[in-house]
Amino acid sequence: MHAWLCTTPTGVDLLQWTQLPTPTPGPGQVLLEVKAASLNFPDLLIVQNKYQMKPPLPFVPGSEYAGVVQAVGEGVTHLAVGQRVACLSGTGGFGTHALAPAALCMPLPDSFSFVDAAAFIMTYATSHHALIDRAQLRAGETVLVLGAAGGVGTAAIQIAKAVGARVIAAASTDEKCALCQAQGADATINYSQGNLREAIKTATDGKGPDVVYDPVGGEFAEPVFRSIAWRGRYLIVGFASGPIPSLPLNLPLLKGASLVGVFWGEFSRREPQANAAMMQELAQWYGQGKIKPVIDRTMPMAELHAAYARMGSRQVQGKLVLVNEG
Ligand SMILES: NC(=O)c1ccc[n+]([C@@H]2O[C@H](COP(=O)([O-])OP(=O)(O)OC[C@H]3O[C@@H](n4cnc5c(N)ncnc54)[C@H](OP(=O)(O)O)[C@@H]3O)[C@@H](O)[C@H]2O)c1
Repeated sequence: MHAWLCTTPTGVDLLQWTQLPTPTPGPGQVLLEVKAASLNFPDLLIVQNKYQMKPPLPFVPGSEYAGVVQAVGEGVTHLAVGQRVACLSGTGGFGTHALAPAALCMPLPDSFSFVDAAAFIMTYATSHHALIDRAQLRAGETVLVLGAAGGVGTAAIQIAKAVGARVIAAASTDEKCALCQAQGADATINYSQGNLREAIKTATDGKGPDVVYDPVGGEFAEPVFRSIAWRGRYLIVGFASGPIPSLPLNLPLLKGASLVGVFWGEFSRREPQANAAMMQELAQWYGQGKIKPVIDRTMPMAELHAAYARMGSRQVQGKLVLVNEG
């Protein structure tokens, strides 16, 4: 097998396409032939040693992937050789094969393409957990999604529409705003132009959004929180822009509003049954055509460096997926 190996976590440049012995799955593991692997923002952070999880070296990055089971380890009863699955294991996906924990593999019906499946779990689970569990978003409420053309952002638009909410999508270019509109956003804001607070006021008839979904952090958090509606819920999802913002605590008091932390990975570990029920609902919604990953593009697995560069320079719209051909 071949895989992108990280021996020195100082950035993307040192990742090497390396020949490795094809492993035999141990107890509770399966060996997958990787068909597709998507890029998530943590994949960019982990190879720079900037992510909260720091795998022992060397490691193969690639948090999320889909493929075909080639061998099963001892004690694995719910998966069989030849089965199509998606998996989110945090590392291991950027290669021709991956050793995956069987418990984290989601069996796929034939109608679920490998490209869509590789781009599904992280973004939809995060956005469903955030909007429906953490924010208790209800039909008729207004949600403002920041970074709305990105991976978790596009999933948030689709999930909010699926539950009957009104969606305002905010992004940094007109092209990204157009993509959000095509995904069902009711209004868009290009936050690179004009006054963000005024634009939010106009888009919500002065009321402010009931829920804010923020995977961006940085300079927008305070002005956006100042714009939130009475009893608003501000979802802290991530800090893609870099800086972790801080907020004067009189602001939540004045709005009767809540700051709501979102950590889907920890939720899935601590509350596995609730997570499984959520994944089942998401798979059902996919089958019904209510949600579908927005694929920025597919690129050959060999082009990982270029794929990372595209994500790092904010060019990805939706999800970028690496594929093994043949
Ligand atoms: N809390 C959780 O459980 C959880 C789970 C998954 C992901 N996350 C976090 O959510 C965030 C987004 O992840 P993602 O996979 O959706 O990433 P993504 O597809 O790259 O989207 C991030 C968006 O952030 C915006 N952005 C603003 N400044 C940026 C900068 N300097 N560099 C890159 N992007 C910038 C970009 O939109 P504009 O150009 O429109 O501004 C971009 O589309 C990450 O911080 C990730 O760690 C959290």
